[in-house]
Amino acid sequence: MKIGVPREIKSDEYRIALTPAGARELLQRGHDVLVETGAGEGSAFADGAYEAVGARVAGDAEEVWAESELILKVKEPIEAEYGLLRDDQILFTYLHLAANEPLTRALTESGAACVAYETVETDARALPLLAPMSEIAGRLAAQAGAYFLEKPLGGSGVLLGGVPGVAAGNVVVLGGGMVGYNAALIALGVGANVIILERSIDRMRHLEETLSGRFTLLMSSSLQIEESIEDADVVIGAVLIPGALAPKLLTRESIRRMKDGSVLCDVAIDQGGCAETSRPTTHSEPTYVVDGVIHYCVANMPGAVPVTSTKALTNATLPYVEAIADKGLAEAVASDPALARGVNVLHGKVTYEAVADAHGLDYAPLEDVLPLSPV
Ligand SMILES: NC(=O)c1ccc[n+]([C@@H]2O[C@H](COP(=O)([O-])OP(=O)(O)OC[C@H]3O[C@@H](n4cnc5c(N)ncnc54)[C@H](O)[C@@H]3O)[C@@H](O)[C@H]2O)c1
Repeated sequence: MKIGVPREIKSDEYRIALTPAGARELLQRGHDVLVETGAGEGSAFADGAYEAVGARVAGDAEEVWAESELILKVKEPIEAEYGLLRDDQILFTYLHLAANEPLTRALTESGAACVAYETVETDARALPLLAPMSEIAGRLAAQAGAYFLEKPLGGSGVLLGGVPGVAAGNVVVLGGGMVGYNAALIALGVGANVIILERSIDRMRHLEETLSGRFTLLMSSSLQIEESIEDADVVIGAVLIPGALAPKLLTRESIRRMKDGSVLCDVAIDQGGCAETSRPTTHSEPTYVVDGVIHYCVANMPGAVPVTSTKALTNATLPYVEAIADKGLAEAVASDPALARGVNVLHGKVTYEAVADAHGLDYAPLEDVLPLSPV
């Protein structure tokens, strides 16, 4: 299959959808790989690194889109890219269509097969292509919390790990899933006192085993949250109710009762945020202050560490890319229900129910649109 990797043109996006190592795997399986000039630069992969493994480097985006049967991207196409998609193409990328009606309409009009990383979902309800970004965002959240506590940045001036003779700072993590676990891991690593508030007892049992009792684990309730955050130096919002907006666990009143110069890292901001006072921020202006509390609410945190994020993303996507390239989309989704759940738009139809519902469009089950039924 002819596989194309365009440069990401969304602002502040430095990732690329395929590493040279991933390109080599695909080339060894007999596929063609075409990478746009400069596409890997933001992730520290020069054009020469792709050429060295046998990939071709194309002059511009038009050439990549025109020549490729399978387009690999990181972020959803932006308006300038809408016209480049063809009805005989497969697009594999993060799409987040429920939040983007113009893109949903553009993709249906293109007639292309559009597979979203974020809705590839195993039978056990795991999201294998979202998980690596959650790992990164969780680890970054603990780092950001420690950093913005520094006095010159407006923070309270507490060193999270303390020193011998001086108490460590307190980190409260709301939600002990992928983001929360990774945030706790780094916070524990720098020596902070860590409390995780979860509402799933099974998940708490798992955390107890993996983090071997080095932290406090509490059932999440509005009272417990209020009591815990009053002593917190850093609060990390890491809750998720799949498919829904994040619950507003932190009221404006409870934010007011937090310590001056403490930091709220609301990682769940991409689902609306878990504090009433949260609104999305960017890497160029990551924070703002409400009632003395520094709010860090960057919606695309992994974009700050593209070198790591690009590798983590390719590690997770490559098996699915290989399956699509080796078998073609129809057979690949027929043999893998997790991948089938990733298909959002196909031949002009919306094949993902939540996306159709979000925009009042007709929903067409995948098996009605694809010749081979998924099993
Ligand atoms: N800002 C970013 O750049 C970025 C990057 C990656 C992920 N995220 C977001 O981070 C959030 C968490 O993602 P995840 O992968 O960790 O999800 P996850 O499903 O692995 O974990 C979420 C956890 O929240 C728990 N939870 C739900 N309601 C709760 C409540 N009321 N109190 C306490 N715990 C509760 C769940 O039991 C679950 O364990 C999501 O909104 C995700 O989209 C943001």
